[in-house]
Amino acid sequence: MQTWAVLLLAGAFQPQIPRTWKTSDVAALEVPLANPKYSPVQISEEAYYRIPARVIYKTYPVYHPSREPAGYREWLRTREPEIAFDPSKLKTREDWIRAGELVFNTPTSGAVFFSAGDLGDSAFYDQTGMPVAKDGSVPFARWVIRRKGEVEMGSMGCHTCHTRVMADGTVIPGAQGNNPGDRQGARMLSRAAQAADPAQVLARMRGFARQFEMPWLPEDPNRRAQTMSLTELKAAGDAIPPGVTARSNTSLMVPPQIPDLIGVEERRYLDHTGVVRQRSIGDLMRYASLVQDVVALARYGDLPPRSPAGPGARFSDEQLYALALYLYSLQPPPNPNRFDAVAARGKKIFQRERCAGCHTPPLYTNNKLIPVDGFQPPPDHQQRFDLLEAPLGTDPRYALQTRKGTGYYKVPSLKGVWYRAPLEHNGSVATVEDWFDPARLRPDYVPTGFKGPDGRNRSVPGHQFGLALSPEEKRALLAFLRTL
Ligand code: HEC
Ligand code: HEC
Repeated sequence: MQTWAVLLLAGAFQPQIPRTWKTSDVAALEVPLANPKYSPVQISEEAYYRIPARVIYKTYPVYHPSREPAGYREWLRTREPEIAFDPSKLKTREDWIRAGELVFNTPTSGAVFFSAGDLGDSAFYDQTGMPVAKDGSVPFARWVIRRKGEVEMGSMGCHTCHTRVMADGTVIPGAQGNNPGDRQGARMLSRAAQAADPAQVLARMRGFARQFEMPWLPEDPNRRAQTMSLTELKAAGDAIPPGVTARSNTSLMVPPQIPDLIGVEERRYLDHTGVVRQRSIGDLMRYASLVQDVVALARYGDLPPRSPAGPGARFSDEQLYALALYLYSLQPPPNPNRFDAVAARGKKIFQRERCAGCHTPPLYTNNKLIPVDGFQPPPDHQQRFDLLEAPLGTDPRYALQTRKGTGYYKVPSLKGVWYRAPLEHNGSVATVEDWFDPARLRPDYVPTGFKGPDGRNRSVPGHQFGLALSPEEKRALLAFLRTL
């Protein structure tokens, strides 16, 4: 057969797979930290490729105990292990995207937020509010079969944090996740303390919290965990609502909102602080590998890596490429909000109030980084990055007191605000109404989203745009935002 005919039959898709951990690309991947002396230095290309590539096995859905098909567990025990990701079988772009979906749903560890026992216990769902999909499945976990007869619970893949189950049970892959992971973690903590020596459990928890520390800060708020009691640490976990999570390199004290990944292809900076640049699909691959596998191998200034032994596995370049194509293919759910006369009025207000200067259509972001109070961008940043030096006044802690702290917040896209919550970089407000409620500026405000580790009142300052609108104008503005 002629080559052109083969290409036509194969859908003519010829993937150009970047080398993920190429030294020069990794070196320019990140925006420096606010104190550049402590910007991370990632592992070398040689060390990266010495980590074995992950074998992706076929996995199976987990069901709520009352919705599990009869005989399902027994049937799983009869399954042979199957390798599910095989790049030699991928021909079309669609094949690669479907393979990327497998990577997205691939667990990378077992019991972190919950155990297999928890998932089989109805009370666990009632107590933690873990959502269940319409078909009775739990999209945040999977059963994995790596050896016949052994059914392992797997989680902590991208799906665990980046899947949203709507109130009617519809699943939106990639949207701001809503598994209450940190509340589940807090429940595990108190269970462990009941079953074992509480002093040992406390020591383990403090050991876990050390990963967030920034020894180079004169007063590191993340060190507080070392003097908190078990009860206080459990309360800190309980204080983190679904949609926010203390991911690695973030903070238990000021954990970040989980971003919506739908539309990620258009974003020039990743994470709230814009710490990772996205110049190409290769950068998204590097981002995924960094956060999921090699994060603890980075050196910060003269500090040794947090976990020098490294992970047992990393994703292969093919797996990361498929994953990135899958993320780029994600679509928002159909929007039930009509662009009616009220929304049309809201659109005019959006323009009049200059929201579009930052939330510029059609992406509803200008893809710029805004310095926080207390950070003066070095002179060369104006040329190197996309800056907008406009006063914003939002809480600077996440941008200054975490290992992702660049001293900036990026302008987030407003697309999809109708299906996701809570909002703001820490998810401090539960709804878009609350974001435009001037009461949030007051020190006696009790945040409706993430309150803070002690759950007390605090202001949610800054971003005062739109706060002075009349109730009628605000209604129209919100109606418009819900159509995006
Ligand atoms: C434990 C929860 C968790 C897991 C697991 C997880 N993420 Fe995230 N992800 C987050 C949080 C939280 C942030 C925001 C971090 C920040 O702003 O500093 C984030 C940010 C991102 C972003 C940046 C998006 C943006 O617009 O800024 C991308 C891309 C992303 N994650 C992809 C992935 C992929 C791909 C995987 C799987 C390989 C994954 N994540 C696994 C919690 C998670
Ligand atoms: C000077 C730039 C700028 C202007 C003008 C601006 N915003 Fe923002 N907006 C931001 C930044 C930056 C954030 C993120 C702040 C944070 O998380 O600390 C944000 C966050 C938001 C959020 C929360 C999004 C989320 O996913 O958490 C909404 C909603 C929003 N803005 C709407 C508006 C509206 C409506 C206007 C006009 C009335 C407006 N903004 C004007 C920069 C701007």
